[in-house]
Amino acid sequence: MANAPVRRRPRGSAGADGETRRGCVTAKGVPVSRVVVVSGGGTGIGRSIAERFAAGGDEVFVLGRRPEPLDAVAAARPEAAIHPVPVDLTDTDQVIEVGKRLGERTVDVLVNNAGGIVRDEEPGLAGAFDGFRRTVERNLLSAMMLTEAVWPAVRRPGGRVVNISSIAGQRGGGDAYAAAKAGMIAWGYDLAARGGGEGITVNTVSPGYVQDTEFFNARGRSARHDALVGQTLLGRAGTPDDIAGAVHFLASPDASWITGQVLGVNGGALLGR
Ligand SMILES: NC(=O)c1ccc[n+]([C@@H]2O[C@H](COP(=O)([O-])OP(=O)(O)OC[C@H]3O[C@@H](n4cnc5c(N)ncnc54)[C@H](OP(=O)(O)O)[C@@H]3O)[C@@H](O)[C@H]2O)c1
Repeated sequence: MANAPVRRRPRGSAGADGETRRGCVTAKGVPVSRVVVVSGGGTGIGRSIAERFAAGGDEVFVLGRRPEPLDAVAAARPEAAIHPVPVDLTDTDQVIEVGKRLGERTVDVLVNNAGGIVRDEEPGLAGAFDGFRRTVERNLLSAMMLTEAVWPAVRRPGGRVVNISSIAGQRGGGDAYAAAKAGMIAWGYDLAARGGGEGITVNTVSPGYVQDTEFFNARGRSARHDALVGQTLLGRAGTPDDIAGAVHFLASPDASWITGQVLGVNGGALLGR
C-alpha cells in the first residue's frame, strides 16, 4: 500500500455546515464527524457513497487499486477530508498493512463496496477456474479480509458495517459473481451476530441495475440496458446516488436498531420478502 499524504482539516475546525465538528458528539453519543472507510471509493457507487459522507462533514478514507480515481475524488472536494488509500484488497500483505493504518483511528463506518466482474479469462478449464477464484477474491474475500483487519478499530458501541452485494446474489446472474455476492449476504448475517453484543450493526445493500459506473461499458451502461430497465417497477435504471442514500441511512443514528438485514435497492426489479 502506498502511503499517500493525508490531508486533514485542522482539529476543531469548521465542517461543511460551519459547525465545529471534530471531537463533538450528539446527544446520543454519535460522533458529529465520523471516520468512514469506503472500499472501491474511487469510482461509481463507491465514489457516490464517499461523497455523500464527506458532504455531511465526515472524514472519509477511499480505497482502491488505482491511485488516480482516488486522487480525483479527493481533488473534487478540496474542502473535505477525503484520504486516498491505494490498496489491492485481494492481497493479504496489503490488507494487513492497510488494517494497521486504519486501525490507528476509531472507524465509525466501514462500507465494503469494492467488487465487480472479472473479464479477462483465459480459454479452457484452467482459465475458468482462475476466473472463479479471482471473482470470489474480488467480491467476497476482499470484504472479509478488510473487515477482519479493521474490526478491532470499529467503534463499540455505534460502529456500522454496510456490505454491497448485488441483486445477482439473490436471484443468480454471473455464475461465480452471483455466488460471491450471495456469500456476502450469508457472511453478513454472521458478522451481524458477532457485532451485536458490542453495539455494531451490519447490514447488506443489494443493488439492482445501476448505470454510470465502470461496472459496464465506457458509458457505464449494460448491453442489456433496456431489458434491465424493463424489469424494474419504476421504469428506470438506478444511479450511484440511489445506493449512496441507502448506505448513508443504514449508517445513521435512525438505523441503530437495524442489523442483519438485506436492503434491496433495485427499482422493484426483485420484490422483498
Ligand atoms: N453497477 C451495478 O449495476 C451494480 C449492481 C449490483 C452490485 N454492484 C456492486 O457495486 C459495487 C460497486 O460497483 P460499481 O458499479 O460502482 O462499479 P465500479 O465503478 O467498477 O466500482 C468497483 C470499484 O471496486 C474497486 N476494486 C475492484 N477490485 C478491487 C480490489 N482488488 N482492491 C481494491 N479495490 C477494488 C475498483 O477500483 P480499482 O479498479 O481501482 O481497484 C472500483 O473503484 C461492486 O461491488 C459491484 O459488484 C454494482
